Amino acid sequence: MRMVDIIIKKRNGEILTEEEINFVIEGYVKGDIPDYQMSALLMAIYFRGMNIGETISLTKKMAYSGKVLDLSSISGVKIDKHSTGGVGDKTTLIFAPLIASLGYPVAKMSGRSLGHTGGTIDKLESIPGFKTNISEEDFIKQVRDIGIAIVGQTEDFVPADKKIYALRDVTGTVDSIPLIASSVMSKKIASGSDVIILDVKVGKGAFIKDINSARELAKIMVGIGKGFGKKIVAVLSQMDQPLGYAVGNSLEVVEAIETLKGRGPKDLTELIITLGVQTLKLVGEFHDEESMKKKIVESLEGGKALTKFRELVRAQGGDASIVDDYSPLLNAKLQKEIYSLDGGYVEDIDAYKVALSVMALGAGREKKEDKIDLSVGIKLYKKVGDKIEKNEPIVTFYANSSERLKKAQEIFKDAIRIGKKKKDPLPVVLEIIS
Ligand code: URA
Repeated sequence: MRMVDIIIKKRNGEILTEEEINFVIEGYVKGDIPDYQMSALLMAIYFRGMNIGETISLTKKMAYSGKVLDLSSISGVKIDKHSTGGVGDKTTLIFAPLIASLGYPVAKMSGRSLGHTGGTIDKLESIPGFKTNISEEDFIKQVRDIGIAIVGQTEDFVPADKKIYALRDVTGTVDSIPLIASSVMSKKIASGSDVIILDVKVGKGAFIKDINSARELAKIMVGIGKGFGKKIVAVLSQMDQPLGYAVGNSLEVVEAIETLKGRGPKDLTELIITLGVQTLKLVGEFHDEESMKKKIVESLEGGKALTKFRELVRAQGGDASIVDDYSPLLNAKLQKEIYSLDGGYVEDIDAYKVALSVMALGAGREKKEDKIDLSVGIKLYKKVGDKIEKNEPIVTFYANSSERLKKAQEIFKDAIRIGKKKKDPLPVVLEIIS
């Protein structure tokens, strides 16, 4: 078999066989297939797509390209969750301790930022001392001991995705349905949990911009999960505007803790409750939605989820006092509040442009090895549909350099639109695909 023939076949819109897909993944992981040929194939897939058979073959080969986690020594129904990536998406930081506080083990391997979207691992690393690279043995022991662990993906965990993900990031091939589906589902299959909750983001700040494509992606991923014997559901959630008010690693941790204290933003709290209810439905121990919702709200408002978060932080070497004193998370050198020049209603807060503004502050990677600034970001004061008065604060920037602050402000100007006409708030949960 020759890689060039496989590239030409896909370029011409033909269907690849399982053998051809296996050849590509094995060759690329081993280093026999160079980045330039893989890039060409990814671009051909981007334009020509893949059918469901090809997507399943790709997912399977990627999932078993490295070591698969064995969670059998952890008792109970193991829960995993994945977001397709958004702006201000701190959901895992709340969802995981919430679910663990209800007695379901969460063994979560998370990623770093991809493109303009944030990553859970970067957010957790903004907590002083928090370690995300612990051994597989300690990871499993921690889940057995306290019911929760959130770690970065080890070198030998789905290496095919690691290499392809990094290449997609720099070749304009991230937003492809079969490539996202295989990337997400290979990791979910290799991570060994019984129940998978997918948060499929749709809108300006997501990789998938329209609801039809998001639905298609969700259906493919749910189908693949079921094929591998998993209990799985996908929640389509709105990502036209950022989730919550905070965007930027340490600021998002503060907002996540506030949500764990029962004082979170409305949209974020609603999404957490929905994801929680869907999880409990799959676990099958509750019969009606009202009692599931009650259980979740009780944990959030009664402090059980917060206690679990403290345990998680302590177990991974972090300073749990940040839960009560946010000052180590709010330590950017410069803070600048911006006020509205006009009164009216917030018509749009473009999540993608907000993300670009936050990246300009230093929160984004240009190259894989770049170190990002975890303390910078923005805190919004309004959501779409809110009324705003002239001279009312819209946003605070947290920056470490005045030059970067200037650039970020410039980008942000285009991110927000205020008009005179009343506008309805945006719904956060759009659809559930099970
Ligand atoms: N998240 C992933 O894990 N993979 C993608 O391709 C996109 C979002």
